[in-house]
Amino acid sequence: MGISALRATVTEVTTPLLAVGIFEGDPTPIGDAGTVDAALGGLIRQLIADKEVTGEPNEVTVVHTQGKLPATRIAVVGLGKRADFNIDIVRQASATVALKARGLHVPRYAVMLLGLGQAGVTAEQSAVALSEGAFLGLYEYEQFKKPTEETPTKIEEIVVVASDQADVDAAQRGVHCGEVAARGVNLARDLSNGPPNLVTPAYLADTARSIAQRLGFSCEVFEVDALRKRNMGGIVAVGQGSSHPPCLIVMRYSGGAPGSKTFAAVGKGITFDSGGLDIKPADGMLTMKHDMSGAAAVIGFMQAAAELKLPINILGLASAAENLPSGTAYRPSDIITAFNGKTIEVSNTDAEGRLVLSDALAYAVDQGASAIVDLATLTGGCIVALGTVASGILGNNDSLIETVRQAAEATGERVWQLPLWKEYAEQLKSDIADTKSSGARQASAITAAYFLSNFVDDVPWVHVDIAGTAYYGADQVYYPKDRPYLPSGATGVGVRLLLSIVERWAKSP
Ligand code: BES
Ligand code: ZN
Ligand code: ZN
Repeated sequence: MGISALRATVTEVTTPLLAVGIFEGDPTPIGDAGTVDAALGGLIRQLIADKEVTGEPNEVTVVHTQGKLPATRIAVVGLGKRADFNIDIVRQASATVALKARGLHVPRYAVMLLGLGQAGVTAEQSAVALSEGAFLGLYEYEQFKKPTEETPTKIEEIVVVASDQADVDAAQRGVHCGEVAARGVNLARDLSNGPPNLVTPAYLADTARSIAQRLGFSCEVFEVDALRKRNMGGIVAVGQGSSHPPCLIVMRYSGGAPGSKTFAAVGKGITFDSGGLDIKPADGMLTMKHDMSGAAAVIGFMQAAAELKLPINILGLASAAENLPSGTAYRPSDIITAFNGKTIEVSNTDAEGRLVLSDALAYAVDQGASAIVDLATLTGGCIVALGTVASGILGNNDSLIETVRQAAEATGERVWQLPLWKEYAEQLKSDIADTKSSGARQASAITAAYFLSNFVDDVPWVHVDIAGTAYYGADQVYYPKDRPYLPSGATGVGVRLLLSIVERWAKSP
């Protein structure tokens, strides 16, 4: 699918479908919708008066123009109340229009630059959101499904339209950035939706390697022998029960000036989490192919960062292993030694994510990272605390936490901070090792983060627990129906968040 920007007015665009926005509560359509309304003899105004069109977010109404405009159809899409407007509304509206166009078997359509000037939204920001919304909303995981008659038509071309040349130039940049970010997200979704018999640690490594090769950044994979030699005992222990060996995927993108600081992104890559010897019940295991969503996000982020040629240095680490019970599996009460030399008493083999992260975090410190953000489907406790509405964030540095918060505000990937008070550390005290791997059920998202803090020293660090936000099943208590750019399955959460974080971090690293 292609997306581009075009200079034209709403009455000039020849297209099978042209989308214009209206706000809820405006008594008559104004702006582009007003111009269309006039050309159609007051049709939209009539629909509003008859309450058939309200302007609520994600409402879309298609009318035929019957030769009164060069566009064959107009899609009137709701942008909600002006007072509630934010950039996510544009992302949502764009996905709504894209899905409507697909439903109508329209292979190409045009959309006016939506929400321009509303709540300070610039042409570039609107274009980014339009592009993201369409690419994310149209996503499907189709690798294993043969096409049937119900398989929807592919949208081939989307044109974003503005009448002002400066807006068109900004929109051209915006649609490109949005497309690159969304393709990073969709790559992460493909990896996370992929079945665990396909998406093994080696598959993650191969994927990372081929992206790195294509885009000219470095990718090194530490296989079991290299992990052993480096004393990366956490990754080795978690992976030793599976016939698919574990690995640490080390990606380095050097876009910064020589000698400039490095940002590290670290992802949990458990390609299947059975719980290990502390095996999960069947229900709890069913979604555990998604337990590598953190690693998938880091790989998707690296692809997007390199395609955007960001002017910074990034170390991307994905800790990949499969957590299975077997005669060679690690056991509860084993003591393992992490890369930084700390010894860990394994209290529960289902608390495996923190072990693979321990080596990767310590390695990021060792490699001189100036800031570290890790993404992990780490704890059921985070879902108990925040549901599937937000990711939990915890960290050791207020300024980096604030950066993550602002980034999340911009991308619509909600985060909420949980405290890392020292009282929580009590639960991790071990009589025979430097730390236990897990504590009680209480505050388990926090104790997990506390455990991770053992491996970052004083480097500014934020941990993002994406257990509740990495995938949405239609049966979930909260399913984001209001966000049509999140189809069910893997969300690819974290890719756009990381992009938004480094954009901010780069200004004051
Ligand atoms: N991968 C799970 C966390 C998880 C649970 C993610 C549900 C998404 C949905 C993690 O490895 C795990 O099993 N954590 C345990 C830790 C406990 C044994 C200390 C948990 O949270 O119950
Ligand atoms: Zn687990
Ligand atoms: Zn896990």
